[in-house]
Amino acid sequence: MSDSESILSSMTETRSFPPPESFAKTARISSLDEYQRLHKQSIDDPEAFWADVAEKNHHWFKKWDKVLDWQCPLAKWFVGGKTNISYNCLDRQIELGRGDHAAILFEGEPGDTRELSYNQLLAEVCRFANALKKLGVKKGDIVTIYMPMVPELTVAMLACARIGAPHSIIFGGFSATAIADRVHDAESRTIITADGGWRRGSIVPLKYNVDEAVKKCPNVENVVVLKRCDNEITWNDGLDRWWSDLVSSESDVCEAEQCDSEDLLFILYTSGTTGKPKGIMHTTGGYMVYTALTSKLIFDFKPDDVYWCSADIGWITGHSYITYGPLQNGVSVVMYEGAPNHPDWGRFWKIVQDRKVTVFYTAPTAVRAFMRQGTEIPARYDMSTLRLLGSVGEPINPEAWMWYHEHIGGSRCPIVDTWWQTETGGIMIAPLPGAFTLKPGSATRPFFGIDAAVTDSTGKEQPANSGGLLVIRKPWPSMLRGIYGDMDRYREQYWSQIENVYFTSDACRRDEDGNFWLMGRVDDVINISGHRIGTAEVESALVSHKSVAEAAVVGIPHEIKGQALAAFVALKLDATASDDLKKELLDHVAKQIGAIAKPDQIRFTDALPKTRSGKIMRRLLKELASTGEVKGDTTTLEDFSVVAKLSESDG
Ligand code: PRX
Repeated sequence: MSDSESILSSMTETRSFPPPESFAKTARISSLDEYQRLHKQSIDDPEAFWADVAEKNHHWFKKWDKVLDWQCPLAKWFVGGKTNISYNCLDRQIELGRGDHAAILFEGEPGDTRELSYNQLLAEVCRFANALKKLGVKKGDIVTIYMPMVPELTVAMLACARIGAPHSIIFGGFSATAIADRVHDAESRTIITADGGWRRGSIVPLKYNVDEAVKKCPNVENVVVLKRCDNEITWNDGLDRWWSDLVSSESDVCEAEQCDSEDLLFILYTSGTTGKPKGIMHTTGGYMVYTALTSKLIFDFKPDDVYWCSADIGWITGHSYITYGPLQNGVSVVMYEGAPNHPDWGRFWKIVQDRKVTVFYTAPTAVRAFMRQGTEIPARYDMSTLRLLGSVGEPINPEAWMWYHEHIGGSRCPIVDTWWQTETGGIMIAPLPGAFTLKPGSATRPFFGIDAAVTDSTGKEQPANSGGLLVIRKPWPSMLRGIYGDMDRYREQYWSQIENVYFTSDACRRDEDGNFWLMGRVDDVINISGHRIGTAEVESALVSHKSVAEAAVVGIPHEIKGQALAAFVALKLDATASDDLKKELLDHVAKQIGAIAKPDQIRFTDALPKTRSGKIMRRLLKELASTGEVKGDTTTLEDFSVVAKLSESDG
């Protein structure tokens, strides 16, 4: 971890955007005063605040005995309460009269469309839940899901939640090796997948990847296969079952399991610094309450909103803000299967136009990619239904913010820049769009119940405008409950850097008005296109190649992706550097982890610069990869000639 002193903030942004009057007039929270009053209440007496929210907005089979049990770092929310999040997403909405309202508006990449009402979605979920039970899936069994972005993915996750079986969703871009690691770690015996999924006009061979993974996972008993692309697949008798066969004879009624508030809802694997992915655990009640309220207030949901979040459900954004948060608010959720540039760069804007999207949530990396294509493309579409935009995944640079505001939002839509993490479960710092004056590049202020601060490495709060570490000082309902199978790592990583506070690993500055400006990560995890990649994982992948002796991977700034990876590779003596080998290494990384982790640069080198104690000096490599030369301090370097040689190697 860097010292806070080394986190310099050089950003000065003076543009500001008060909420448009017409927006504020109907907003759920419409003034800064109202926010400040409620925020104070939520911090002074979190238990009263959250009890009120949980009581008013949710169905409980049994009310909790105690709102919060906090034995740092172990939190329990709504202790003793019994509920079911699938019930709250579906049955409760139907009870409120929204049964015929569209729940999912699906758009497949090839252009096929489907619409499911809340009634229809409930029926599908029940059928699949009954099918899972028949396969022997019981409460507490972890089910792995590796699917394309189709409605059945939502059905699968809600069916698991309905019967109390935690899900572990793996993003469809991950490789067979990554699937096998996660299936092993979660001791999962059931995998739900599809024959394939559409991406940029090609078929992603999902079933093939699962076939490769299960060869290494003898404990897997069932592979449920949805037919999506009708591509040829290998069939493993005794293991594989078609989704359609399983559900055809099932009833569309399945009583929701009465889950304990602290029952595991899902595990989601995310990169850590040690190369081994961490299974982040989220439980039922607190996550349910927090994702519903953040959705309602930050996206300012109204009953007729057509909401589209362009993330993949395989990431936390999709879990919390495609499925659980929006459906608990009864809105219509657009779901798109494919790539933003298929068949061309107007696809997103065509969906906005055709579906009359009102609230759109995407990532800065997408905004930058669209920026690159020019303003003429979005200008071709009627996007006048949009009233609010959102951003997530990495800091949005002010120029991208301005472009998004003007060319997508028609200069009338507020932008909610939402800061949060897989671990936090829900949005932590973000504007309430009818109440806050926005500053491009700032995620603004903490949500209700979130006690965020910027401190130095001893936990001392930093003065305004000094860079420091972002920490959270109080437990919140959707916080992670631990790392699956590794509670020591949970304590060590999140709660020991600074005593008794949650350490986010993000650098941050708070300005004189109380706005938070995120500055990126302080550890070795790199954020590419909004996805976190542990450099250690990529190094491990490179080193697992037969020609590689040693590898160091660092993050470098990238115009579109935010950050990109540069790899320095020392080869084994019998291997020869070549362009073919570079390509082979890239393919190897893609196979081990996924295409997203492929380095943009690979440089071959005789040796890596190391400190005397043997630690690779990543700081120097980063400088070299970003600027082409090394000017920084090299006094602890063991052998300076290594850097001189590296500067000569080509990128
Ligand atoms: O560094 C922060 C960055 O993404 C990290 C969390 O990554 P992940 O767990 O994959 O979740 C991404 C989606 C919630 C954070 O530690 N990050 C996320 N949103 C923002 C951000 N950085 C700046 N501004 C944001 N709005």
